[in-house]
Amino acid sequence: MPKEIDRVFKHAIVRIPGRNFADGLTTADFGVPQYEKVLQQHARYCESLRACGLALTTLPADLKHPDSTFVEDTAVLTQNAAILCRPGAPSREGEVAAIRPELKRFFASLPAIEAPGTLDGGDICEAEDHFFLGLSLRTNEEGVRQLAAHLAKLGYTSSVVDVRSMTSILHLKSGIAYLGDNTLVVMEEMADNPLFRDYKLMRVPAEESYGANCVRVNDRVLVAEGFPQLTAELKGHGFDPLVLDMSEYRKMDGGLSCLSLRF
Ligand code: GLY
Repeated sequence: MPKEIDRVFKHAIVRIPGRNFADGLTTADFGVPQYEKVLQQHARYCESLRACGLALTTLPADLKHPDSTFVEDTAVLTQNAAILCRPGAPSREGEVAAIRPELKRFFASLPAIEAPGTLDGGDICEAEDHFFLGLSLRTNEEGVRQLAAHLAKLGYTSSVVDVRSMTSILHLKSGIAYLGDNTLVVMEEMADNPLFRDYKLMRVPAEESYGANCVRVNDRVLVAEGFPQLTAELKGHGFDPLVLDMSEYRKMDGGLSCLSLRF
């Protein structure tokens, strides 16, 4: 029985990775991404979003910003609104101006996180009417404060999850995902956070923690290849996993959610 959908997605914005993708930021130690595979994995990701019923806006590669295929970091999208981010890494700041005109086509107003606030979209986890705001090495307290105020005006509540001491993850959503049906996927290291106590938790064992960055897209859950316990658990909870090879993106600290803005 497929799980009920809390939010139906109709569109996604993606950006083709540039041939200088390997020049982006990373802390991972999995080697240098192979560009042919980068493109193949991106193409398969886009096909999968289409198979989930989404219409795609595909932006061209932006060679000025090697990390710009990780479009999720440029904006926070709610059901009816978009808030522009201000990425915490200086090399990524210009990505926001490049995404703005695309979002303008779909959203009437585009409030923005302003300096000295910094905020990466990957730190923001929407769970229906509540948002978890990750305080990380990219997203600072002022960024979180500004976003919480924008969300409150839109009728959403929020709470802050401090991941600054968790060196194994870049962003909050490297470690948690909301799947609807009051269900949170959460990496073991974060699973005992009292903020998550009212949710059904799918705890991801340490050896599969990269898999925690999975994404519910309509009837499916996109999940990275190579995490059999998590994939089996998703099935066991009635979700329908769509497994994608993410090896080249993992080398650049990227995950499934980072590769699209969904709305
Ligand atoms: N390579 C993704 C990031 O560091 O932002």
